[in-house]
Order: sequence, then structure tokens, then C-alpha cells
Amino acid sequence: MTPRYRSVKGTRDLLPPESDRWNEAERIARETFRSRGYGEIRTPVLEETALFARSVGETTDIVHKEMYTFSDRKGRSLTMRPENTAGVVRAVIENGLAAGPMPLRLYYIGPQFRYERPQAGRFREFSQIGVELLGVPGPAAEAEVLEMLFEFLRALGFRALSVSLNSVGSAATRISFGEALRAHVVPRSAGFGEDDRRKLTENPLRLFDSKDPGVRAALEGAPRTMEFLDEESRRHHDEVRRLLADAGIPFADDPSLVRGLDYYTRTVFEVVSEDLGAQDAILGGGRYDGLVESLGGPSVPAIGFAIGEDRLLEVAPLAAPQRPRVVVLPQSPEDVAEASRIAREIRSALPGGCVEVDLGAHGIKRGMARASSLFDQAAWQGIDRNAMLAVFVGERERAADSVTVKRLATGEQETFPRSELARRLGAARER
Ligand code: HAM
Repeated sequence: MTPRYRSVKGTRDLLPPESDRWNEAERIARETFRSRGYGEIRTPVLEETALFARSVGETTDIVHKEMYTFSDRKGRSLTMRPENTAGVVRAVIENGLAAGPMPLRLYYIGPQFRYERPQAGRFREFSQIGVELLGVPGPAAEAEVLEMLFEFLRALGFRALSVSLNSVGSAATRISFGEALRAHVVPRSAGFGEDDRRKLTENPLRLFDSKDPGVRAALEGAPRTMEFLDEESRRHHDEVRRLLADAGIPFADDPSLVRGLDYYTRTVFEVVSEDLGAQDAILGGGRYDGLVESLGGPSVPAIGFAIGEDRLLEVAPLAAPQRPRVVVLPQSPEDVAEASRIAREIRSALPGGCVEVDLGAHGIKRGMARASSLFDQAAWQGIDRNAMLAVFVGERERAADSVTVKRLATGEQETFPRSELARRLGAARER
């Protein structure tokens, strides 16, 4: 049957067992971040459009052409967040946290929206797992967030990832670097399209975001941000490198890394996986010492990163967690109450397991058919086939105070006293 409705272009459904992998990755993220004092922040998807223009930057691709922006019924311009850092900073200021004790450690997990051309690993609705650390001016902040990031990535099974690292310096660096970059590119810009011409005039750094081969060629031999760093930024960067080496975090300098958002100062970084076809970044981040103040708060330095969860899970060597599954089959409607009691007992004997009662009380035959169909779907549901059990509850069992348990993978069947249920199922799990 051809479906009448389809998901919107660039969006998709997450089904089991993939959703189990996502939940598992998010569980590990929460645990890792929480253990280092980070608290979860949830900001709205909708923000005032001006917030992103002001923070991410008017001339960035994100703000210029990728935002889902609309007027609400009162004519306010609203945008579905294309990223979460701006919203976090807005919330921190609005809720009085920017004037409170520092450092402030926050993380978030949630959907973001960008009107990009969908391709492998690139969606219009995608999810980010992000971290923001506010109030720490020194390189210890870089070390903390990157160490935590690597702890998370290693817990997901990654071994060979490395950070690409650069410094974009201060606001003054940006200006002098921008001018030098423009001077380098102008004589090579004859073939540029309208958009890249605009970048060249308004914000030459943004040319680094261009995929156009002509622009890439024009950038060859271009000046590097490093050549324009002020003394303080240079010292900061050297110290960051020293601390990362000290913490055993693999990194490599990437002098052409500038990142596609305007709020960065000094440290910027990305992690790229070769397993992602298009060589897209799994994650990106950096320091943004001027953003809190530019959004109307006090002067508070900050740093953070956001992982693209869709891309992360595409390449993460993380299996869906396996859970034992039990179907309790009452033979007739009179057996349902007893079946429900047994299901409760099994749930407490099999923490993390999945126990359901055949509420239709279809009897053994149809009940088994139902259990078998669950069994057939086992791969789809990420359930360990060896841990799938059916438990029969009928008149005979009730009279004898016993239960009959069938292991679906092998068809083995056993009847034993009900009092032994918890112990036996616990043991069955070990097998
Ligand atoms: P970003 O580099 O724009 O940075 O995005 C971070 C990550 O989100 C990317 O590396 C990528 O994995 C993922 N991502 C971006 N666009 C898409 C898409 N269309 N489809 C799938 N995944 C995508 C930020 O958003 C900054 N807020 C990061 C940050 C936090 N900097 C400081 N704090």
C-alpha cells in the first residue's frame, strides 16, 4: 500500500532497535556528564530569530539560508533552533545564572533544525548532544570538556578518533585575519558565485565553509589564523596543547579550521570520522568568550561542543542493549489476574527485562503464536533470542501452584513450583 503521508524531507523516524542504541548512548552521555558536575538544561525549540542572527552571525550559512523561520499569528519572527548554544546562553542570562556562582556546567540533548540539502548523515531535523562550560577563562576549561568528551566517546567504543584543533584568536585577530584573507582571495575570485562574493565582502572567514572547488582553490596558500594571534591567545593555545597531551587526548593542528559559527574566540575544534562517507564532522565546538556579554549578560568566558547524534550513532561501535523478554500467557480470562501477578514477580526478578502479559487471554495455541511472532521480530526489537521465554498460566498450573516455562529458541519446556520462579528465571538469564 502506498502511504498517504510521508515524513517531511530531511526528517526521519527512529525505530527499534535503533532507538534502543540512541537511548543507550544518551544514558552513557548523561552518566558521564553528571559524574563531572554537569546538569541538564532543556531550552525551547522556538526562539526569537534575532537571537541567532546576533550569536551565530548574520552572514553565516546557518542564519543566511538554513533557518526554519516564520512569523507567528502576532507577527513575531520565530526560528526553530538551528543549534543550542545561543538558547543556552539566553536561558543562562534570563534565569539569572550568568550573575551567579561560576563555573556553570550544563549539557543538553535534543533536536535542532537546519534547512540543508539532505544527504548521508545530514538531515533537516537532527539531534545534538552538547555541553557548555561557563566561567572558566583558562585552558583548564578546554582540558576539562575535551577529556569528558573523550571519556564519552571511549565509552561508546571509539578508539581511533582524534581532535582537529585551531585557534581563531580574539575579535582583533578576526578583523586583521579577515582583511589578509580578503586580500589573498580577491585576485582569485573571478569565478565566484553570488553567495561566495557576498562572503568575501561581508565576512571572508565564512569562505572556509564553502564546498565550491573554485573557492577551495582560491583559499590555497591563504594566510592562517595562527599568524594573527595576539600574545595572550598564543600562550593560551600552547597551554591547551600541553594540557591535552598531558591528558592523553589525541589531537592534531588544523590551521584552516575556523568553524561555521561567528561566536568563537581562541580555541576551536572538531572530530571527524573517516567512517562517515562525506568526511563530515561528528562534532564541533570551541570557546566563545564574548557571547554572553554580546547577548546582554555580564562578561563571562565560555566553551562547549555539540555532537551530531545522528552521525555519532551511524559510526559508533555500540550495540543495542540486549534484554531478556518474557511473554506470560493466561489460558483463559480467569487466569489473567494470576498472570499479571506472575508478570510482576518476573519483572522484579529480571531487572531491565521486558515482561508482557497476553491480555487477550487467547489460550496456549494463539498465545504461543503471538509469542512466536514476537520471537520472529526479535532481531527487529534488539532482543536476545536465547532469553525469550513464554510462561503458561492455566487452570492446571493454578491448581498445582506451579508455572510452565518454555524457552522459545529451543522449545524446551519445564514445569516447576511457582515459588521457584524468580530463582529459575534469574538463572535462565545467566545461560
Ligand atoms: P555545529 O558544528 O554547527 O556546532 O554542529 C555540531 C554538530 O552537529 C556537527 O559537527 C554535526 O555532527 C551536527 N550537525 C550539524 N548539522 C547537521 C545536520 N544538518 N544533520 C546532521 N547533523 C548535523 C554547533 O552547533 C555549536 N552549537 C557547537 C558548540 C557548542 N560550540 C560551542 N558550544
